[in-house]
Amino acid sequence: MPQKVILDVDTGTDDAVALMCAALHPDLELVAATTVNGNVEVQYCTDNSLRVFDHIGIPVPVYEGMASPLVRSDFPKARGDTASGAVHGRHLDIPAAKSRQQTQHAVDFLVDYYMSSAGTDTILVPTAPLTNIAAAIKREPRIVDRIPAVYMMGGGHEIGNVTPSAEFNVWADPEAARVVFNSGLKNVTVVPLDATHRALVSSEDCKRLRALNTPAATAAALFTEKRIEGYQIVFGENIGSAPVHDALAVLAIVDPGVLASVVEVFVDVETIGELTVGRTVLDTHNRLHKTPNARVALSADQDRFVSLLIETLARNT
Ligand code: BDR
Ligand code: CA
Repeated sequence: MPQKVILDVDTGTDDAVALMCAALHPDLELVAATTVNGNVEVQYCTDNSLRVFDHIGIPVPVYEGMASPLVRSDFPKARGDTASGAVHGRHLDIPAAKSRQQTQHAVDFLVDYYMSSAGTDTILVPTAPLTNIAAAIKREPRIVDRIPAVYMMGGGHEIGNVTPSAEFNVWADPEAARVVFNSGLKNVTVVPLDATHRALVSSEDCKRLRALNTPAATAAALFTEKRIEGYQIVFGENIGSAPVHDALAVLAIVDPGVLASVVEVFVDVETIGELTVGRTVLDTHNRLHKTPNARVALSADQDRFVSLLIETLARNT
């Protein structure tokens, strides 16, 4: 039986690759995608997710969620408004969606789903700001005991990408991230920038993807090439490769060996300070004497990840 998953996304070029991996890997069954304000405004995340599923010909229900952070009404702007729009852009460069989003709100869906019998064997995979997840936990705290495991892309220990301290998904809604880390969720695996920046996808890998000539592989090549160009524009990094963060979190479910240097620690989130807001603080030396609440991957196996990515995207007919 394939492992059921729900992805909470802000699609986004790397979320798009993650969605395709979840929809195509035979060991996974993608039950639904929920969308949230993040890389671009939520309505574009929804539209982009629908585009992805139409493009690969696999219908997956998409539920639109929160349009702004949990408590901050105007902070931050979605990334599409910033220089980082170069990495994502409002619309993914694939044909417009024909399918339509579900009418239920994502937070209501998550609460109803996880309180139903189906919920207890479905892994939750947030690859976006944690607003929907925190809102669902606040609405129905009992869901934390029903979600069997979480694989989350977010945070950074030695690396930030919005500030030297903070990774985007956590920085974009730090209060929500704090709720999630302190909620009592079990079996939480965190895939931070420390791991994703050690699992880069190169221009050469994009050529291999294009050669497969499947809709998924061709789209993944297009999105990854945009990311490689975008990283040059935004960070001045001209290394011919880029992280495809969110796909690493998805593929870690089917092959934990794509992650490396995994530590079990207590993680909390800083919510104040110009230079520190959004920082994931890892208590690596147990200074707080708290029970670990997450397994955090501090590295990754790039070759293993890229091979699995290519194999997975080849499966689209
Ligand atoms: C994360 O932030 C978003 O831009 C990406 O989609 C990824 O989930 C990386 O910091
Ligand atoms: Ca994302």
